[in-house]
Amino acid sequence: MMKQQRNEGLTIAAPHFIGLLMEVEQQAKETIAGSDKSAEELRILLLGPKSELGRLTKQIRQVPAAERANVGVVVNEVKQSIQHAIESREVTNLRSNEASHSWFDVTAPGIRPPEGHLHIVSQAISEITRIFERIGFTRVRHPEVDWDWYAFESLNMPPHHPARDEWETFFIKSQKRKVESGKWKEQNALHSSLLTSDFPAMVLTPHTSNGQVREMEKRKLPIRMINIAKCYRRQSDVSHVPMFHQFEGMYIDKGVTIGDLTGVFNFFIKNYFGPDRKVRLRPFHFQFTEPSVEIDINCGICLGKGCRLCKEGWLEMAGGGMVHPVVLKNGGIDPNVYSGFAFGWGVERAAMMKSGTKLDDIRLLYSNDVRFLEQF
Ligand code: PHE
Repeated sequence: MMKQQRNEGLTIAAPHFIGLLMEVEQQAKETIAGSDKSAEELRILLLGPKSELGRLTKQIRQVPAAERANVGVVVNEVKQSIQHAIESREVTNLRSNEASHSWFDVTAPGIRPPEGHLHIVSQAISEITRIFERIGFTRVRHPEVDWDWYAFESLNMPPHHPARDEWETFFIKSQKRKVESGKWKEQNALHSSLLTSDFPAMVLTPHTSNGQVREMEKRKLPIRMINIAKCYRRQSDVSHVPMFHQFEGMYIDKGVTIGDLTGVFNFFIKNYFGPDRKVRLRPFHFQFTEPSVEIDINCGICLGKGCRLCKEGWLEMAGGGMVHPVVLKNGGIDPNVYSGFAFGWGVERAAMMKSGTKLDDIRLLYSNDVRFLEQF
């Protein structure tokens, strides 16, 4: 990869170039420490035109012009530091064991270590949280390993309901017949199949919707939650990872309508992607919302007219709808008095769409390769 990055014609981002310089410096110091070559030989090997540093310095042309001067400063610092390491070895050799006489310039500038930053997904999570906070939504946390009841049953998907197939779920064989709530006990009685040890009653949450009934159980109304959590599905290919993140919004109060869903989502879209973007709702089906919608966003390139990239002008985004009366009841809320909406979407997809990065393999996000991650 290092070789590839140094090909002619490629631009090298300044932080990446500095990272390479740091590597060269580290390697040079290791060579100096472990070598019995003369100082002159080391100078040619480590600072000469054919040295690794010499070769890298020539590629400074590939750093964007605006940042070249800053990178130049670091190149000089690295040169001086290697020079210094060679010299101080000389001094130590000459005055062997007279450490108290060895020269140390306290005014020499320190070497700046490469600086890290938050992972692109963490950045997206905090940005999404901040946007929703501005309209009164609070970030909440709910279990990422949860009872089947919260992930499916309470969401109007009884055991063996075909709608469950949508979520390629990791089930956990739960030996403990824990009673989480009154409702859970009742459901266990209803569906005794859930209690036999070979029928799993716990899951790695395949979506953040398990937070819906859990939030209702807090018995605090109105609810304005944004639940951001890890989700797990049995999937791994260029556009799917087995562990990903979703953010789930839910608003429950008296008189909430689907118009509020459109309004809230528009607010989010404009703040996250830019003022020209807007949403469109398309009829869909979920067991736990009625009516259910898929939420599209107009394409950032043609703004909805239709272009080569998006074909129709709209990009498919989140799922959502009005919380189903059965779900409200399961959470102890009277559907004749209260109504609400919920929606859920993938954080990774939102972040990729925002950065305009067309990843040919989404698994890169979690491959822990700094050369990839430092670009965001
Ligand atoms: N949980 C759904 C999914 O993972 C999305 C959704 C959330 C739909 C809330 C409706 C309401 O696809």
